[in-house]
Amino acid sequence: MNEPEIIKRTEEFAAFEFGDEGSGHDWFHVDRVRKMALRIGRNENCDLFITEMAALLHDLDDWKLNNPDQSAQSRSGKWLAEVGVDAQVSSHILRIIDEVSYRGAGSETPVSSVEAAVVQDADRLDAMGAIGIARTFAYGGHKGRLIYDPAVIPVMHSDFQEYKKNTAPTINHFYEKLMLLKDRLNTETAKNIGEERHQFMENYLEQFHEEWQANK
Ligand code: NI
Repeated sequence: MNEPEIIKRTEEFAAFEFGDEGSGHDWFHVDRVRKMALRIGRNENCDLFITEMAALLHDLDDWKLNNPDQSAQSRSGKWLAEVGVDAQVSSHILRIIDEVSYRGAGSETPVSSVEAAVVQDADRLDAMGAIGIARTFAYGGHKGRLIYDPAVIPVMHSDFQEYKKNTAPTINHFYEKLMLLKDRLNTETAKNIGEERHQFMENYLEQFHEEWQANK
């Protein structure tokens, strides 16, 4: 199979797998991350096939969406073998997927290649701005969380296990993750795009708290 065919098959596979996902990690998220990764990637001199494949598969084995007992990367690894991606390229793609996820305010998430930097940026940008806000509330609802409770103070998680166990109201997630993302983008292209999205969320939170206090 040539590269365009592999991309096409993987796209169909991802669209099928994520089609009706209700927590904000649906196929349209995957597709936006893919498009954004390609947009950033074109400015970064990276391998666009690897970048696009990693973006298409990045949520398949995500800890947020799977049973914890499922071994990491098993499904993406299997898929890459099935479509005949060679072992070296496949291990690069799997490594990117492993490096994409946010693991809490105090946990570093270093990247080991420019392609990983680009896919991580694209995924983080999709957690920001108008779409980021929509996805955050969709995820909170999916987990049965309150929108907001002023008595519950945001926590800067330094430990990935603690971050995973978090059940705080959705607004806290803005302070524990979304508002921190602009300083955790890797590439200049993503930082430029992230600025406006960050500002939009800041305005949103300001208005939210004003309305909460019945001031507006
Ligand atoms: Ni994602």
